[in-house]
This record gives sequence, structure tokens and C-alpha cells, in this order.
Amino acid sequence: MSSILVTGGAGYIGSHTVVELQNAGYDVVVLDNLSNSSEKSLERVEAITGKKVPFYKADILDRAALEEVFGKEDISAVIHFAGLKAVGESVAKPWEYYENNIAGTLTLVDVMRKHNCKNIIFSSSATVYGDPAMIPITEECPKGQCTNPYGWTKSMLEQILSDIQKADNEWNVILLRYFNPIGAHKSGTMGENPNGIPNNLMPYITQVAVGKRDHLGVFGNDYDTPDGTGVRDYIHVVDLADGHVKAIKKIEEKAGLKIYNLGTGHGYSVLDIVKNFEEANGVKIPYEIQARRPGDIATCYSDASLAKKELGWEAKYGIKEMCEDSWRWQKNNPNGYEN
Ligand code: NAD
Ligand code: UFG
Repeated sequence: MSSILVTGGAGYIGSHTVVELQNAGYDVVVLDNLSNSSEKSLERVEAITGKKVPFYKADILDRAALEEVFGKEDISAVIHFAGLKAVGESVAKPWEYYENNIAGTLTLVDVMRKHNCKNIIFSSSATVYGDPAMIPITEECPKGQCTNPYGWTKSMLEQILSDIQKADNEWNVILLRYFNPIGAHKSGTMGENPNGIPNNLMPYITQVAVGKRDHLGVFGNDYDTPDGTGVRDYIHVVDLADGHVKAIKKIEEKAGLKIYNLGTGHGYSVLDIVKNFEEANGVKIPYEIQARRPGDIATCYSDASLAKKELGWEAKYGIKEMCEDSWRWQKNNPNGYEN
């Protein structure tokens, strides 16, 4: 029986995807260097699914380690989550981001083709649209100027993988452009586990709720949006994970090159999220309006109809469940996987 290799599978989206893959009957192998995650996430996966998760602690830049995995395991497809993702850090350390994300992916793809595994699903991002030329954003929307090296790694890797598929049509490449994943597994045992001060909105809110931070800074209330704060398309991580199961099924039908937005199609402002979180969980989130964050855009939400049409996928969970599930995880695990 062949397996799906999940790179970055100990991370936030990867670990939730492993659960959905195993529940759908797939055999999964995880490779992760644990640079931004804990192996404990995989123990939690095993507790939920009742199945072992074969794990290789390895780096995608380490060709010999990748050769070993592809030599030992029968890998039919790769879901490639491994990468560095902190926008601000990428501005300070561009070389590290280009090396890890781009050189790492080139190494992975080279080992894959040597082992005749030419099926890959890549974690891309709505960041490739830059300041989007249309709202809601369809996949036809032209890619834009990224405001940071992290975003450029996603944009460049999309180009690289597309060119590889065009040169050799044995490749099946699916580029998934995620909008804003939040939420956590219903069990409250798995969720997002940021190091240090969270950069993203929901983990910051849950840390305020649990008493680790005293208030939320709202980055600007003078955008051209209904309440002046930034609008985003928040998507439950379990829905996102399910999108990968659907994408694997598409790969099995010989997909060629495909690009899909994974979002809900709904936009919520920062203050909408604060209000929904407070209502869903009965916890107060004090906040203060601050200056805009450099590089932020006003509005970003998807038209998710192509994924519905071609993958038979659409988001099932709404904002209430996203807020409840994020809070259940944080409340039960104030220190993430560290306790
Ligand atoms: P995460 O940091 O939780 O997961 C990434 C995993 O990759 C981590 O476990 C990390 O240890 C591992 N990793 C990093 N570099 C590696 C390397 N060289 N070799 C092996 N493992 C390595 O992040 P996430 O939120 O789960 O994101 C997963 C993917 O989705 C990333 O590629 C990210 O850029 C992309 N993405 C995330 C978001 C988001 O908002 N979370 C949005 C769009 C796209
Ligand atoms: N925000 C705050 N306060 C905070 C954190 C965020 O007001 O403490 C605001 C932001 O200004 C923005 C919204 O909340 O309006 C969402 O911000 P996030 O940082 O959670 O998400 P972004 O949309 O800025 O970025 C996310 C991912 C990036 C990805 C981008 C586009 O983190 O990796 O979506 O897909 F590139």
C-alpha cells in the first residue's frame, strides 16, 4: 500500500491534515525538522485517529535524508507544507527564507522525480495576489507584488512548480492558495502553537483571553472597509485540511496543473472577529486601536466557487465554530504543546 508524504506534517495545518487523511483511509508518512513544531502534535493525531503516524525528523534541504525516506517508503504523492512562514521575520532574514523555502522545495522535487513520484500539492497563499485587483478574488485574478520575502517564496514556488509540470506532463501539481486559517480540532487537543508573540490575529486574541497578554492591538481603523479595520477570509483549519483530501482525490484523476483558492468567500473585519469571539465564548477581549501594520492590505476574501465545482469541496464551519474551537484549544493548553 502506498503512502502520502506530508512535509511539515507536525505543524498547524499539516497535523490537522494528517487527521483528515487517516480518517479518509490514507496511509501517511510525516517528515518535519520540528523547527516550528513539536512531535507531540503527532501523538495527539494518533490519539484521535487510533493509527500510527510514521515520522521522520528530517529537513527538506537534506537530500540524503529525503533519499532515505523515498527509499524506504512507497510514496505516491507529497503534500508539501514544510516552510518558514513568519512575514516580519522574512523581511529581516530574506536569505534564510529563500534558502529554506525555495532551495528546500527544489531538493524535495528533485528527489521526488528520481523516485518517479510526480504528484505534489503545494501550500500557497492568498498573499500571491498582493493588493488584489478584484474582490472577491478568483483564481483568474492576476498575481501581484508581494510585500515581503515570505510572500515572494510562495509566488516563485508557484512559478517553479508550474514550469516543471509544463515541461513534463507526468507531473500533477495542485497549488492551493489558503486564505486565513484559524480554529482547531474539535477535541481541543490540537491547534496552533506559535512561538513567542503571535503575529496573527486569532492566536493573539486567544492569548489575551487566557490572560497571557493584556489587550489586543488593532492595526488601523482607517481602512476603506465598513468599520475601518482590515477584512479577511477566515477559514476553519479542519475545512482546510479536508480541502487537501479532496485535492489528493483530484491528483488520483491525473489533475495536470491546477490552482484553487481555499477560503469561505466571506470577509470579516478585525472588530467582527473580536465581537464573534466574545459572543461565542463569553470572554471579554480588551483592545486598543494602533497604527496600521506595514504591508497590510484593506480587504482580502475569496471567490471559492472553483474548488466547489472541481474538487467538490466547500467550507462547512462558520465563524462561531472557528472562535469556539480556537478557544477550546487555547484554554485546555495555555502553553500549547509544552505542558
Ligand atoms: P507551521 O509552521 O505550523 O508548519 C510548517 C512546518 O514545517 C513546521 O512544523 C516546521 O517545523 C516545518 N518545517 C519548516 N521548514 C522545514 C524544513 N526545512 N524541513 C522540514 N520541515 C520544515 O505552519 P502552518 O501554518 O501549518 O503552515 C503550513 C504551510 O502553509 C506553510 O508552507 C505556510 O507557509 C503555508 N500557509 C500558511 C498560512 C497560515 O496562515 N497559517 C497561510 C497560507 C499558507
Ligand atoms: N491584526 C491586528 N492585530 C494583530 C494581528 C493582526 O489588528 O495583533 C489584523 C491585521 O492587521 C489584519 C488581520 O488582523 O487586518 C489579519 O491579520 P493576520 O496577521 O492574522 O493575517 P494576514 O491576513 O495579515 O496574513 C495571513 C498570513 C500570511 C499570509 C496572508 C495572506 O499570516 O502568511 O494571510 O494570505 F501571507
